Amino acid sequence: MNTNSLVSIDDISRDEILDLLERARFFEEHPNHKVLDGKVVATLFFEPSTRTRLSFETAVNRLGGRIIGFSDASTTSSSKGESLKDTIKMVSNYVDLIIMRHFLEGAARYATEVTDTPIINAGDGANQHPSQTMLDLYSIYKTQGSLENLTITMVGDLKYGRTVHSLLMAMRYFNPTFRFVACEELRMPKEYRDFCDANGIRYTEHSEFDSDVLADTDILYMTRVQRERFSDIMEYERVKNLYTLRNDMLLETKPNLRVLHPLPRVNEIDRDVDDNPKAYYFEQARNGLFARQAIICKALDIDIYKEAAL
Ligand code: CP
Repeated sequence: MNTNSLVSIDDISRDEILDLLERARFFEEHPNHKVLDGKVVATLFFEPSTRTRLSFETAVNRLGGRIIGFSDASTTSSSKGESLKDTIKMVSNYVDLIIMRHFLEGAARYATEVTDTPIINAGDGANQHPSQTMLDLYSIYKTQGSLENLTITMVGDLKYGRTVHSLLMAMRYFNPTFRFVACEELRMPKEYRDFCDANGIRYTEHSEFDSDVLADTDILYMTRVQRERFSDIMEYERVKNLYTLRNDMLLETKPNLRVLHPLPRVNEIDRDVDDNPKAYYFEQARNGLFARQAIICKALDIDIYKEAAL
């Protein structure tokens, strides 16, 4: 197992998080810093993606590396029955780094056990999405000026939404207060509520999405109901449109509040919110490029500041 792998946000310390944020800021100022000359990176996407794959691939291109990979596993030999283990071992023969998204929870962790090539988890089922968390933290830091003492309201699919799970865990270092807004079927899972309790993180749970819950909110983190994780489609139909952010709901909120969403969006944010200065989700996605440049260089042990001085 390569210790530079990023599988869960739980794998990295507070200092490492802050260091990655500094590196993301560096890349925002120097997006075409060519430090990956001679490196080949694989992007293996067993599940659909727009932002994560394209921002990782843009990151490699802007850093001067090369990309191989796939965005549709049905075109690969996994459709002939090749195991994940064999796929990872094969790809490891060709590349310096593997970035992978898989529908099975634990797939990225498993991959680290069958190869010495570093692995970056680009999302594993409903489990974790640590690179999303780094871009979320970078977005929070940029908009709030700090990660400390913030009230973060998470709305929607808190059961299957891997981004909220990763973000919750990362925020344990920064004294947050969480408001969890979800229906019973999609409430924050017990293991994450237990995580809050074990780490002294304050949280409240709500079924109503109203001005009361927004009053002290600094970051409003909207999520999509994850249709692809439901085994019962009728249950999805029942809960899919329960929570929608309307523009007027932002009127009485704190001036510093920003609306984040990992995207893609379906119906959970009205289109006219896009023009509200508190909407930040498109900039958030842009920040993903810089955060992922930082993550890639860390995984490959590249001293970006030294390289910059040369
Ligand atoms: N936020 C996110 O993971 O988006 P994609 O599914 O488009 O990669």
